[in-house]
Amino acid sequence: MSQYDHILEIAKKAAQSSAEIILKALDQPKNVDFKGKTNLVTQTDKESELTIKSIIFESFPTHTILGEETGKSNTGSPFLWVIDPLDGTTNFVHGYPSFAVSIGVLYEEQPIVGVVVELPVNKMYFAVQKKGAYRENESISVSNISELSKSLLVTGFGYEHGEKWKANMNLFKHFTDMTQGVRRLGAASVDLCHVASGKVDGFWEFDLYPWDTAAGILIVEEAGGKISSMDGNPYFIFDKHILASNGSIHSELIDEIGKVNSKINLPE
Ligand code: IPD
Ligand code: CA
Ligand code: CA
Repeated sequence: MSQYDHILEIAKKAAQSSAEIILKALDQPKNVDFKGKTNLVTQTDKESELTIKSIIFESFPTHTILGEETGKSNTGSPFLWVIDPLDGTTNFVHGYPSFAVSIGVLYEEQPIVGVVVELPVNKMYFAVQKKGAYRENESISVSNISELSKSLLVTGFGYEHGEKWKANMNLFKHFTDMTQGVRRLGAASVDLCHVASGKVDGFWEFDLYPWDTAAGILIVEEAGGKISSMDGNPYFIFDKHILASNGSIHSELIDEIGKVNSKINLPE
């Protein structure tokens, strides 16, 4: 087995174990804390992250891990595991269906493995660099919609209701008018997988973190899609805004975002 396949196997095992923890907790009373006014975190987020980290550590004790809830363990390794132990916590707390476990692995800053388990449907999306993208072992690819007017898009809104949030309200309005619709589900990793599997044709969001996107960007690219920043520049997981699409409508999306943002001064 190649090293990347071994990493994929462990990422899948870790993601599936934590998905089981989340599904068991779904009908139980939630122990909710607040990281911000509307930014929720539960005991399940923390349990899920510890489970994932212990599974990674058993097989790859020297790899660096960056987890949303426990921060970064810096081992100096070129391998970096980036974990969102529960993406879409607000949905999980309310029982609204769109949340996930997301595990992305980078080697020398290049995404090499991505695994997202979409919940509560419990479907696993995964990709390995140059080996394609899959949903439950079936190969997936982006849609072939080539005009924005025929597309369905998805976006997300972060917890800070500042300038970027207002800018996104403008984009939401603009694209709702120009396309067949814009959805807002509440789990960025799932949104990316929905681009990868052709359920939607594009996704954009301000103010994301590396753990929201590290797995999903590889899954989109391996499914034939395109990833960039919202201004069209190359995207890296520590950048704050992202644009993902099937590729065919990417430049139209960048043009329209540019038009709206030039009127309102796109925040960094
Ligand atoms: C959030 C979700 C949501 C996005 C927020 C994220 P969390 O992650 O991905 O879709 O709009 O920006 O912070 O906090 O539920 O892990
Ligand atoms: Ca998240
Ligand atoms: Ca999270």
